[in-house]
Amino acid sequence: MKQYSVLLAGVVVLMLISASCNSEKSKELVKKETTLQVPELSIQFDNKIDSIIALMTLEEKIGMLHGNSMFANKAVERLGIPELTMADGPLGVREEISRDSWAPAGWENDFATYYPAGGGLAATWNPELAHLFGNSVGEEARARGKDELLSPAINIIRTPLGGRTYEYFTEDPFLNAKMVVPFIVGVQQNDVAACVKHYAVNNQETNRDYVDVLVDERTLREIYLPAFKAAAIDAQAYSFMGAYNKFRGEYLCENSYMLQDILREEWGFQGIVISDWAAVHDTKKSLEAGTDIEMGTPKPFNEFFFADPLVQAVEQGEISEAEIDKHIKRILRVMFNLKTIDGIGQKKGSINTEAHFRDAYEIAAESVVLLKNDSGLLPMKMEGVQRIAVIGNNATKKNALGGYGAGVKTKREVTPLEGLKNRLPEGIEILYAEGYSERYAENEKAKFGDITLSGPVPINELEPELIEEALEAVRSSDLTIVFAGSNRDYETEASDRASLDLPFGQEALIEKVLEIDPNAIVVVIAGGPFDIQHVSEQSNALVWSWFNGSEGGNALADVLLGTVNPSGKLPWTMPKKLKESPAHATNSFPGDDSVTYEEGILVGYRWFDTKKVEPLYEFGYGLSYADFQYGDLVTDQQEYAETDTVYVNLDVSNLSNMDGKETVQLYVSAENSKVERAAKELKAFTKSLIPAGETIRLPLSFKVKDLAYYNVDKKAWEVEKGTYKLLIGASSRDIRGEATITVN
Ligand code: BGC
Repeated sequence: MKQYSVLLAGVVVLMLISASCNSEKSKELVKKETTLQVPELSIQFDNKIDSIIALMTLEEKIGMLHGNSMFANKAVERLGIPELTMADGPLGVREEISRDSWAPAGWENDFATYYPAGGGLAATWNPELAHLFGNSVGEEARARGKDELLSPAINIIRTPLGGRTYEYFTEDPFLNAKMVVPFIVGVQQNDVAACVKHYAVNNQETNRDYVDVLVDERTLREIYLPAFKAAAIDAQAYSFMGAYNKFRGEYLCENSYMLQDILREEWGFQGIVISDWAAVHDTKKSLEAGTDIEMGTPKPFNEFFFADPLVQAVEQGEISEAEIDKHIKRILRVMFNLKTIDGIGQKKGSINTEAHFRDAYEIAAESVVLLKNDSGLLPMKMEGVQRIAVIGNNATKKNALGGYGAGVKTKREVTPLEGLKNRLPEGIEILYAEGYSERYAENEKAKFGDITLSGPVPINELEPELIEEALEAVRSSDLTIVFAGSNRDYETEASDRASLDLPFGQEALIEKVLEIDPNAIVVVIAGGPFDIQHVSEQSNALVWSWFNGSEGGNALADVLLGTVNPSGKLPWTMPKKLKESPAHATNSFPGDDSVTYEEGILVGYRWFDTKKVEPLYEFGYGLSYADFQYGDLVTDQQEYAETDTVYVNLDVSNLSNMDGKETVQLYVSAENSKVERAAKELKAFTKSLIPAGETIRLPLSFKVKDLAYYNVDKKAWEVEKGTYKLLIGASSRDIRGEATITVN
């Protein structure tokens, strides 16, 4: 077992510090040290594995190196080696797919819990919930007999248009890493391997099958790799998925710089690399670069690059059998660690249980982001309310399935409308009106400038009867909630959106509703940013929710009604205009055969803050019904050495009469750096329950070495000596306190 420190509930160490502090008020400094047991990929079976490999024929070995059905390689029954079984994905265990086609297998017992999508989990800013999620979905994967869960998906949100933004976590590498580690540990403690995807720089769906991503080394190291590195080292992930695209001229599944030099040599990864489905293009290059298993889309499985062509390559002496054995050893190592081969002591798991629905609820409840709450419209004031108008197709839209690999077949998906019905006091009448309908132009593809994307084109004209019905419902009600946003057909794998506009005429509908009821509550349900500037200006109460899992509707209703105090914070920047976000301001999306990440390290809020561009809602933003007051920022010292840890404390008071959770964020600004730096970078955060009327001292910390930038010339991380400004805030822009430290 490896001990890994992470901010999770566990051992809390209180220490009295008498050293000089940045504030006189500080008498004692609270330090929180917590540990998470990380199951390491053990090499204890290696001798046994060598003796098994010695018994295998070449054909048996090669059968293990490629898909022999849609989601498994080939067993070697003679030697007691079962298939390595896999299942998507990030929102829960995907329904069973046919062995030789993408069609559902039609099972009756492949229902699973639908968990909140990645953006929702990240919006909780709660690593404990990431662990809960990982463990819960890990139990489900085990119960379905899956060795590998093709999750988590952790690519950085580079463009707000990204079709898979909902699956991914965030635009920030630090938040990404902090959430992914406990998630993976949770999955793997169930004898299920996490498969971390998509390694790497797979940040757009447009041209994903071939686009060559050109990103400078420093940006690669500082922005796109940290969460993968944490997955490999801190979480000991058992497997990685090689992405579809190219990086610096080589496909990721044949990129020895990424797979060999960085993943295996620098990070010491001992697990297996699985290709994304049909992401292998060359037998020898791909195998020798470090891909272990080629998975793919249906064609005769023996025609895969790692099937008959590989047998021939070995027979013709182009690839050595020792090379083959290396890959088999990695696969068997993972299988032994998962107890798949002998099955002795392997966990049993559980699926579709009330406990798991409860887990999905917990995550959803902390993910909802309160964007605007003028005049305290929320939580909903129910006194005298007899009728509520619920407007919008998204009130009833289900989002568990769709968008390709991340779909889940579930027995429970509580929609927002159902959630309200479940939670509203008895006797309140709900007038539901669809308002807009989800319609797409047939045979049309979305256009981004001159470029044709492959996504659907929404029809934005409202239908007069639907508007009339909706407005009538608003007129006859005491309170209105409009549900807008998108869905899993519009935000999907394999295409990016062509614009940030709300689809299906929603903006016009919301405007009409607000004309009648200016206090209508607007709820946006989506996976990625949308242009809601106009809606935000017009409305007084604005709430953001996600593709939020089996219990999403209940969690949302609890937030609207105030049973749950909202505590979600945005995991990415919501720009005012697409053109102002970095990939678009630099005209470097989507490229063509290649795309150069011109904004470099200035991804997300790093761009907005450094270039002084005001976003609509910034990274880390989210309101509460409670009112939190921040005290002074206190550090344990003023001067630090490179090997030190900086301990920070902050008193936060809840001035309201409602308990609430607050995520305090610590950013660092390296103002005197000799290299380009972002105006600020997130270096620590902590989320805590602060009871009504109480003050709590919150501990945060980071290592001085985390202040380093990547020095490309030296090929090393370098901490610059000098002063750094610590900025503590309720978001990346709502900075409430500062302190300066010096690194000597
Ligand atoms: C996706 C992966 C997914 C795989 C299998 C690919 O298209 O990119 O994320 O795991 O399909 O469904």
